[in-house]
Amino acid sequence: MIKISPSVLSADFLEFTKEIEIMENCGIDMLHIDVMDGNFVPNISFGNPLIKSIKAHTKLPLDVHLMIDKPHRYIEDFAKYADILGFHFEAGSDNAETLKKIRELGVKSCITIKPKTEPEEIYDLLPLCDMVLVMSVEPGFGGQKFMESALIKLTKLRAEIKRRGLNIDLEVDGGVNGETAESAVKAGANVLVAGSYLVGSPDLEQRVKYLKSLKV
Ligand code: DX5
Ligand code: ZN
Repeated sequence: MIKISPSVLSADFLEFTKEIEIMENCGIDMLHIDVMDGNFVPNISFGNPLIKSIKAHTKLPLDVHLMIDKPHRYIEDFAKYADILGFHFEAGSDNAETLKKIRELGVKSCITIKPKTEPEEIYDLLPLCDMVLVMSVEPGFGGQKFMESALIKLTKLRAEIKRRGLNIDLEVDGGVNGETAESAVKAGANVLVAGSYLVGSPDLEQRVKYLKSLKV
């Protein structure tokens, strides 16, 4: 079954409790929380105090996507509220250590790759991951166009996960919508992040239903 993780980056934070309630009633599976530091990516979003508040307002799992430099410095902080904690392969940590640390803290671990990173570069890390996130846009902003080059990466990663007999969720993030989601799922994604397509949409319920109906 496909899991849906709406990106709260597209939310109106002053209306946030209402928006979360609407999304919860539409059968989404988790909330995708984009943390940007203005350094690893050109944009700044928010940090742990907001995530703490979100955690207090929902029972949905929090899927935290760190777009920050040297993420190992902040793993303990974010692990307090995250249910899945992901960081970028390219962000300058000892990635294996960071993944292990996340699991030791009782949180699901996720490694994320940018569009220019080849999937083969993370194969050795797969046994330490509960989820892998393939970016289908350059990280930093919502509302960008889906990059078709993500499809081959998803296909390769799904095949490698299968070959190794691992149980890993494969998530795709960026430009996922009614036109692009199906090919991502066919390529092997089973967790779909969607910001501008879902959050605040008057068609939210139908859109979530559509995304969840997609079959590999
Ligand atoms: C981009 C973020 C995404 C973004 C997705 O750096 O990681 O999660 O919010 O937004 P859409 O679905 O609008 O591309
Ligand atoms: Zn994201």
